[in-house]
Amino acid sequence: MRIFVSKNIADTGLKLLEGAGFSVTVNEENRDLTQQELIEICQSFDALLSAGKHEIDKELLEKCKHLKGIALHSVGYDHVDLEMANKLKIPIGNTPEVLDKSTSDIAFLLMLAVSRNAIFKYEKIKKGEWEYANLTEDLGVELYGKTLGVFGLGRIGYQMAKKCAAAFDMKIIYHNRGKNKEAEKGLNAMYVPFDELLRQSDVLSVHANLSAETEGIFNADVFSQMKPSSIFINTARGGFHNEEDLIGALESRSIWGAGLDVTNPEPMDKDNPLLGMPYVCVLPHIGSATVETRNAMSELAAKNLIAALNNKKMPHIVNPEVYN
Ligand code: DGY
Repeated sequence: MRIFVSKNIADTGLKLLEGAGFSVTVNEENRDLTQQELIEICQSFDALLSAGKHEIDKELLEKCKHLKGIALHSVGYDHVDLEMANKLKIPIGNTPEVLDKSTSDIAFLLMLAVSRNAIFKYEKIKKGEWEYANLTEDLGVELYGKTLGVFGLGRIGYQMAKKCAAAFDMKIIYHNRGKNKEAEKGLNAMYVPFDELLRQSDVLSVHANLSAETEGIFNADVFSQMKPSSIFINTARGGFHNEEDLIGALESRSIWGAGLDVTNPEPMDKDNPLLGMPYVCVLPHIGSATVETRNAMSELAAKNLIAALNNKKMPHIVNPEVYN
């Protein structure tokens, strides 16, 4: 059976697939394929390992309904039309857990970089503006004993909270669809309604799944309820924040700073005003970009496909309904 891998990924998973006797073809050009190119290519394959930037949308699923499984090289599946995948009984797998630590590391890095204006100062050095002698301007803020608010306290949010509690003795509050008992017990985390999360957080970090209900939830009204001294961190999906409103909130100093590993769209335009702001740090969606995590993601994606092609349940299935 033949598997198409839509972008180059770590060898670990490719070796597993080949070892299991499948014929594996990797997108040689290693560029993001267009939807139409992908649809066309998939016609001669039995399964897809979907890596890179494309939608698993209605059209793709309908035109590729022969696929025995689609393994995502990501934990997020907001780019998949699950309703259609369920209807066509196509199992979709993802790569949870293996990126919890690395992604939360990036949230932590952004928090620290923003709180100390690190990138802004670095940029100044590059422009020849070494300001060692400036004792009163562009000062950072400390995080010791401050409050971390987690929007979406799942596995990645837990890792972020754990680091913040350990490093800065931060108090943890969170807002979720359900309570996180493990975090309440292990980290003394406290569930609060959304408006309290906004009011109390010194750092508000987003770790939820993007859905129709949460799309654009961080808008002008929400930013206006946050502390003027607060830092907004988003390592989940760019769709959570309204970018224009975020820029407005930062310009009017209704929040203090922002750290983003995700933007909307991606890539961000190089002239985006956020890139010139002193209290902002933007990274190019590198939450899972470590050797260890990418190796593990490749393996999980491969294991999902090996199961699907052997008519077994994917170990990390997003839509278990297909097996009913
Ligand atoms: C994920 O796995 O969802 C990360 O955001 C990388 O896309």
